[in-house]
Parts: sequence; structure tokens; C-alpha cells
Amino acid sequence: MRGKSEEEMKQNGISLHPLDVAAGPEPELLCIFGTGDLGRSLGLRLLQSGYGVVYGSRKPHSCGPLPQGAQVMTHAEAAQSSNLIFICVHREHYEFLTTMEHHLKGKVNKHKPTINNLKKGMYPEANAKNKNISGFYLNCVQVFLCGESGEAKQAVAHLATKLGLTVMDIGSLSAARELEDFPLKLFPEWRLPLSIAVGLTVFFFFYLLIRDVIYAYVEKKDEISYRIMVSLTSKVFPIVALGMLSLCYLPGAIAAFFQLYRGTKYRRFPNWLDRWMLCRKQMGLVALGFAFLHAIYTFIIPIRYSVRHKLISGVMKNNKTTPFYFDNTNAWRMDSFLSLGILGFFLFVLLGLTSLPSVGGSLSWRELNFIQSKLGHLTLFVCTAHGYIYGWNRFLRPSTYKWYTPPGYVLCLIVPSVVLVLKLLLLLPCVDRGKTRCFCLLPGWLPGWLPASSPGQRSV
Ligand SMILES: Cc1cc2nc3c(=O)[nH]c(=O)nc-3n(C[C@H](O)[C@H](O)[C@H](O)COP(=O)(O)OP(=O)(O)OC[C@H]3O[C@@H](n4cnc5c(N)ncnc54)[C@H](O)[C@@H]3O)c2cc1C
Ligand SMILES: NC(=O)c1ccc[n+]([C@@H]2O[C@H](COP(=O)([O-])OP(=O)(O)OC[C@H]3O[C@@H](n4cnc5c(N)ncnc54)[C@H](OP(=O)(O)O)[C@@H]3O)[C@@H](O)[C@H]2O)c1
Ligand code: HEM
Repeated sequence: MRGKSEEEMKQNGISLHPLDVAAGPEPELLCIFGTGDLGRSLGLRLLQSGYGVVYGSRKPHSCGPLPQGAQVMTHAEAAQSSNLIFICVHREHYEFLTTMEHHLKGKVNKHKPTINNLKKGMYPEANAKNKNISGFYLNCVQVFLCGESGEAKQAVAHLATKLGLTVMDIGSLSAARELEDFPLKLFPEWRLPLSIAVGLTVFFFFYLLIRDVIYAYVEKKDEISYRIMVSLTSKVFPIVALGMLSLCYLPGAIAAFFQLYRGTKYRRFPNWLDRWMLCRKQMGLVALGFAFLHAIYTFIIPIRYSVRHKLISGVMKNNKTTPFYFDNTNAWRMDSFLSLGILGFFLFVLLGLTSLPSVGGSLSWRELNFIQSKLGHLTLFVCTAHGYIYGWNRFLRPSTYKWYTPPGYVLCLIVPSVVLVLKLLLLLPCVDRGKTRCFCLLPGWLPGWLPASSPGQRSV
């Protein structure tokens, strides 16, 4: 048994002060295996919450600084002294638990649960053989809990609540594997949107490189490779942004047609659609990132050397020949195109802001649905119109189709146009009536009910 003096702790550069060491005469003792970073910070939090803490360590007499008021013993002794055991050692060292199986076994018979790592972003290394073990994973202020024994889970839930955390029971111990993988997962919901973004960026970069730079070199012996740095990238970013924005709204339309075809919303969507629907938020935010890049690149256009050079030489050439001709249509076109771009960008940012938990959380479901779905489609419409006006009459010029390939903006307008047409079809009164029938008039309809497959569910 060992308590650390404050002086000793300061020496080691750590100042750990329990706020409430002993709330009652006999605080409940909790055991922590491992005196490392996680064990120490967990111990402090437990002490602050009024529990007594007993550490189980391989070297109880020479372990590092511990929170004041904690005791330290061998693993076996510590296990004897407590009802709950937190395992705060790395997974690869778990074999030591097998050597002390009999200590833990006794506890299991007495229904003493063992809980695993507990800390922000910790690993819940649950032992699937032990029926009383509860996997426990803490994600900010919410803890996920699983286990076979109701009693064990209750104890863990009680403890977590006392620590000021919200508990979410995710079922039996069979969920432990999934739970364990939570902290090991690297951006799971972002993987698909990021892969799509990277795929589209690479594709359009090389597509435009061939169409713009290589074509000019091969056909006109024009060396314009400098365009790779700004011209090309500033084309790729808005194309990817618009493409991904439309991919956010395409699954919703497909889902609606699925439901119309099936005549009910009470059937799960296919897995691919489900997965797609569930990553729309991330897809939208990645698209927003690309739109930001586009906006920034747009603002540097006037200060580019090549642009200034072209402008000045154009003016000089023009001055020598005819008076400077003002094209009214072109002025309308440019102003409308820029205005729609700015408006689209504003709406895009608005969507991004409402996906912040602090903002989205303060809105009702209807408000959030209005912004994300209605304003979202409006954003798509405005940005698509921006793209169409950018193309203007160039869509029809044969010279636009270098080597018989359509320009990037033509390709990137295909999916948004399809989404908008599908949405328009869904708004037709006859289709809308069918939708209402699917949603509302079937037996079992509950207002506000969200289907298992989560269309309409917002991941705020
Ligand atoms: C910058 C940005 C940020 C975003 N942030 C978020 C975000 O934080 N959270 C988020 O979820 N999305 C977010 N998105 C994605 C997108 O805006 C939303 O998913 C949007 O709600 C999709 O609208 P929708 O009309 O296509 O789909 P939904 O409103 O989900 O509807 C799709 C279809 O599902 C069916 N459906 C809808 N409701 C129900 C119901 N109650 N029961 C049965 N079926 C139903 C209908 O057939 C409907 O047509 C974001 C997008 C962008 C661009
Ligand atoms: N630290 C964090 O912020 C954090 C965050 C998320 C998840 N985690 C997870 O929590 C676990 C512990 O992390 P940590 O940061 O606390 O690690 P750590 O600082 O390295 O501490 C691990 C402790 O385990 C004990 N230990 C080491 N080797 C052992 C062995 N062979 N057998 C038995 N016990 C052994 C040691 O305590 P004794 O010397 O006292 O025996 C050591 O102090 C890991 O699974 C980690 O991934 C940690
Ligand atoms: C601040 C707001 C915006 C401004 C000022 C703006 C301006 C511009 C400009 C000047 C161009 C021509 C670029 C060039 O010739 O290289 C352009 C092209 C384009 N913009 Fe925007 N834009 C804005 C927002 C958006 C948004 C939000 C989207 C959609 C997500 C978008 C999609 C496009 C597309 C698809 C093109 C055509 C790209 C190409 O092939 O050259 N823009 N925009």
C-alpha cells in the first residue's frame, strides 16, 4: 500500500489533487490495474467523485506518481479489495490476467463485474469469455456499455452516472468487438466521402490536364503547363464540390423512389443505399471544403500574372482597332453567374453551420429538415445554375469538345441536373400523393417515426 506525497508528485511534474477524497466514512473501493497515464487520470476522476482507489501494479513499490489518497498493491491484492476492476493496461499485456484467473473467478461467482478501460477515447478491451465483464467505451461525455449480466451493467452504469457521464446500453457482450473497435477506427464515416473526393479530384485533374494542357501542346504547340498550378486546380475544386453536393441529395431521391415502388416505407433500404444515406453529412462537409477552396482560388484570379497580361494585351489590341465594345449580354451573364456563385456559397455555408452540434441541437427537427432538405436542394439548384451560366452558349460550340471530350463543367453538371429532375418529379402532385400514402396512411404510421434504415435521420 502506498500514498504519494504532494511534493513527490510535483517533482514528477504532475499535480493531481483529488477534490473530494472521502465523501463518506468508508468510500467504495474501486480497483485499477495499471498505473500508467490512463490509470492515473481515471483514478483521479474516481477520487474526485468520492470513490476510494486501489491500484494493482506489477511493481507496487516503484510505480510512478499517483493521485493523492490512492493505494497501490499487487494485482492479486488489489483485485481482492474491490468490486469493480478497471483494466488500464495495453491489450498485448493482457496475458497476465490469465495467471490470476482464480482471483477474478471468485468475483465473477459473486457477480462482481470487471470493467475495462475507462477514459476519453479509451479501449474497452472486453473479455468475451467472462459473462460478468462489461465492455465500456467512453466517447466524450457519453459512455457505451455492453455485457451479459444486468447486475454488472447496472453497477457500471451507476458508476458512470456518478462520474457525470451519460450511459448508453448497446446490448449484450457480443457487441464488445464492435465497441472495442470504436477508438481504433480512423474516421469511419468519412472514409467513403473522402475516397469519393480523392477519386473525383484525381480523375478530373488528369482529365483537364489532357484536355487543356496536353491538347494545347500537341495540337497548337502551345506550352501552357503553368496553368496546372492555378487554372487547373481552380477548375477541379468547384467540379468536385458540385459533384459531391449532388451526391448528398441523390440518395434521398433514390430512397423516395424505392419507397414509392415498394409502396411502403417499412422496409429496409439495400445496404449500399443505407450506407450512402448515412454519410451524407460528411459528403456535404467535404463538398463545402472544396467550395471554400474554389472561392479562395477565385479571388486570386485578378492578381495572376497571366490574367493581367492577357487583359492588358487585349485592351491594347482593342484600342488600336475598334472602340472598346461593351457587350450587354456578357455583362448580364457574368453578373448573374457571379451572383449565383456567391448566393450558392452562402447557402452552402449555412448548411455547414447547421450541421454543427451546437447550432443543429438548438433547432427543432422540422427546422433542421427545412434547412438541410429544402435549403439544401435550393443550394444545389443555385450552384447548378451557376455552372450552367458559366457554360452559357459554349455547350453548343464544337470547339469546346476538344478531342471529342466534353469540358469538365459539362460532366459535373450531369448528376446535379439528374438530382434536380428527380426532385421535381417527386414534387409533382400525383407522385407526392403516392409518397404521402406510403408515409402516412399505412397502418402503424406514427408521426415523427423514423424508419430503421434512417432516411430523414440527421446525424447532428
Ligand atoms: C454543408 C452540408 C452539411 C450537411 N450536414 C448534415 C448534417 O449535419 N446532418 C445530416 O443528416 N445531413 C447533412 N447534410 C446532408 C443533407 O443536407 C441532408 O442529409 C439532407 O437532409 C438530405 O435531404 P433529402 O431531402 O435528400 O433527404 P431526407 O430528408 O433524408 O429524405 C430522403 C427521402 O427519405 C424518405 N424519408 C424522409 N423522411 C422519412 C420518414 N420520416 N420516414 C420514411 N421515409 C422518409 C423520403 O422518401 C425522402 O424523400 C449536409 C449537407 C451539406 C452540403
Ligand atoms: N493514455 C491515454 O490517453 C489513453 C487513451 C485512450 C486509450 N488508452 C488505452 O488505455 C490502455 C492503457 O494506456 P496508458 O496510456 O495508460 O498506457 P501506459 O501509460 O503505458 O500504462 C500502461 C500500464 O500498464 C501496466 N503494464 C505495462 N506492461 C504490463 C505487463 N506486461 N503486464 C501487466 N501490466 C503492464 C503498467 O502499470 P504497472 O507498471 O503499474 O503494472 C503501465 O503503467 C491502452 O490500451 C491504451 O491504448 C489510453
Ligand atoms: C464565392 C462564391 C463563388 C464565386 C465568386 C465563384 C466564381 C466562379 C468563377 C470566377 C468561375 C470561373 C473559374 C475559371 O474560369 O477558372 C467559377 C466556375 C465554377 N464554379 Fe464558381 N464561384 C463561387 C461559388 C461556387 C459554388 C458554391 C459552386 C458549387 C459547388 C461553384 C461551382 C462552379 C463550377 C462547377 C464552375 C466551373 C468550373 C470549370 O469547369 O471551370 N462555384 N466560379
